[in-house]
Amino acid sequence: PVEERLEDLLARMTLPEKVGQMLQLDARGDLDDIVSTKLAGSILHTAPDDMPRAIELAAATRLGIPLLTADDCIHGHSFWPGATIFPTQLGMACTWDPDLVEQAARVTAVEVSATGIHWTFSPVLCITRDLRWGRVGETFGEDPHLIGELGAAMVRGYQGDGLTDPTAILACAKHFAGYSETQGGRDASEADLSRRKLASWFLPPFERAVQEGCRTFMLGYQSIDGVPVTANGWLLDDVLKQQWGFTGTLVTDWDNVGRMVWEQKVCADDVEAATVAVRAGNDLVMTTPAFFEAAQEAVARNLLGEKQIDEAVRRILRVKLELGLFENPRAPDLARQAAVGSPEHTALNLEVARRSLVLLTNDGTLPYAAGPARALDAPARTVAVIGPNADDPQANLGDWAGASGQVDWMPDGHPRETVETVLDGFRAVVPEHWTVTYARGAEIERLVPDPDGPLFPDGQPRPPVSVAAPVDADQLAEAVGAARDADLAVVVLGDTMALTGEGCSTATLELQGGQVALLDAVVATGTPTVVVLLHTKPAVLPPSALDAAAVIEAFSPGMRGGRAVAELVLGHIEPSGRLPLSIPRHVGQQPTYYNQVRGQHGHRYADLTQEPQFVFGEGLTYTTTTWSGLTVTGGTDLTEVDTVRATVTVTNEGERPAHEVVQAYVHDVVTSVTWASKELKAFRRVVVPPRESVTVEIEVPVAACTIVDPASRRVVEPGDFELLVGPSSRDADLLRAPFTVRPTPTRGA
Ligand code: IFM
Repeated sequence: PVEERLEDLLARMTLPEKVGQMLQLDARGDLDDIVSTKLAGSILHTAPDDMPRAIELAAATRLGIPLLTADDCIHGHSFWPGATIFPTQLGMACTWDPDLVEQAARVTAVEVSATGIHWTFSPVLCITRDLRWGRVGETFGEDPHLIGELGAAMVRGYQGDGLTDPTAILACAKHFAGYSETQGGRDASEADLSRRKLASWFLPPFERAVQEGCRTFMLGYQSIDGVPVTANGWLLDDVLKQQWGFTGTLVTDWDNVGRMVWEQKVCADDVEAATVAVRAGNDLVMTTPAFFEAAQEAVARNLLGEKQIDEAVRRILRVKLELGLFENPRAPDLARQAAVGSPEHTALNLEVARRSLVLLTNDGTLPYAAGPARALDAPARTVAVIGPNADDPQANLGDWAGASGQVDWMPDGHPRETVETVLDGFRAVVPEHWTVTYARGAEIERLVPDPDGPLFPDGQPRPPVSVAAPVDADQLAEAVGAARDADLAVVVLGDTMALTGEGCSTATLELQGGQVALLDAVVATGTPTVVVLLHTKPAVLPPSALDAAAVIEAFSPGMRGGRAVAELVLGHIEPSGRLPLSIPRHVGQQPTYYNQVRGQHGHRYADLTQEPQFVFGEGLTYTTTTWSGLTVTGGTDLTEVDTVRATVTVTNEGERPAHEVVQAYVHDVVTSVTWASKELKAFRRVVVPPRESVTVEIEVPVAACTIVDPASRRVVEPGDFELLVGPSSRDADLLRAPFTVRPTPTRGA
């Protein structure tokens, strides 16, 4: 019936109504013009107070086609005061736990759908490459398999049991594709990618999203080999729609169609840009109002046929019908809004934060004063919580989380009391007879007028830019005093919103401003010091961090992240996060992802190793595990239809539970093209009780042991392989077991 209904509707639509459906406009503009005049099919960034009126205006248009409302609720409902803001995708990726990620996405869908939003622009399926890129924190890290699994989980969580369920929202796989292959980390630069490289690393998570039923896709801002992605008919039509059979809606990124005229300058005017975009296979056109007139003009001049417009409109109407918007336009539901930020959602958020923290180093100081040392009759301790991100709510929330002033209906961002900073966490979690002190110690950046002047065509001055803040001697002295007077110093460092996000990449990866001086001085006091990193993306750590008692990677751990950090330091919970990307020693090592293809004798710079500081998959526990007995069971002589089945035993040698992630990589010994020496193919979380062993089963379908051949086809090449299993991607951590793949017998042979 969906297809019949949409054909019936399409047959009754005028050209302006059809082109209007293809518009997704910024709802912070004039709503009457957007919905009643331009007949926009979709809006984004809608102020909560405007949402009911926008939906009513659409109902009042000639055909009453419902609006599709969208927003960037990518780790919680970004722009709703007090909504549940989870760790960012990078933080969630550290859990290596698809079930937990699915639950978080489900909660987001329940909250988002209650406020009249039908569609979230999430998950981000870009592969992290150069860490200077400002959007690393929005990704699931550097590995296509991990990204694919976690992305699929998010799609399931958002779209729920079926789109007609009023708590389901549309997921959006973005940014299609290759956007993260930046030059020098600079956002939206040309992506230097061959089709084969795309097929090898960048496309698989997106194909997985289609298989999972993800109903929308969004472009990035990149061009590839001189072709803006908005004009890339091969990628949008041949690959996504034809080869993969995607039947949902494809939306451009922000003004991508206009940018082909005013920024990328590959089209002379809006009519040419509209023509190019529709021919390439775009459906919804985000925030290019001129497309309304331009596309109609293109049809009038026979540059576009109405059939090409119909093809796009069909895909937009299809998802509206699938959501059941014609029966229920899903206006904000006041009763259901009571669930926004509910205790259940908040409890899940805390659990995700707990599971996302990665213990990178520990000289034995952690867990701090565990067990009897916390008893009331044990001596009291003083914990000094220090640093610019120790009590900054936004450092917990990260990007796309309604920072203060970002949208005018949230002038102060999320309410302060809904966020537990690290300082709040320690105050809440330490025994009552302990003391928690606080000193900010340093600033990260300060704002100065942009020396480069206007960029945008309207000549408006650009907002101020941030530069590293100088060391403030008084602030520093106060922090050093606090550290000296304490039994434990917890120094919380990282970045700020001014140093991250869309259009905001960094040239370096160092901790900015007065932070290194602060950490050097605190560590020099001799007080055991725990470094907590609260930042959107990894940093290169200074020597004093590596000399500190422990380092905890928290990324942007969400509203309850501060409590989770305090619990981890005090040993109320076990460390369980694992890195979803490699962290380099020096910015010049970029990129450092673990699955680079084999080269020749180039793995060392003359002045530095190419080994990262911390490897993909790494993370410590509060105990010691040994891994043994990796065995491929049920045969090592396999064909493409078989599955590699193996077992490995993880033994916990200590007294605390071990939260491990069993990681299985495949090494294809000889390949017809240069290929990675190991690729993650499966992973499983396991908890091993103290002094016990657990035997874990691993399965890797042989069909997943592929390379991409020179013709960009994904193929299994028969021959010798190794299964590598262990707690991280580091060679020394991995047990190896051989298996062989024979050619699949042909029918009748
Ligand atoms: O969804 C985002 C995208 O990730 C970057 N550009 C703007 C879009 C809408 O806000």
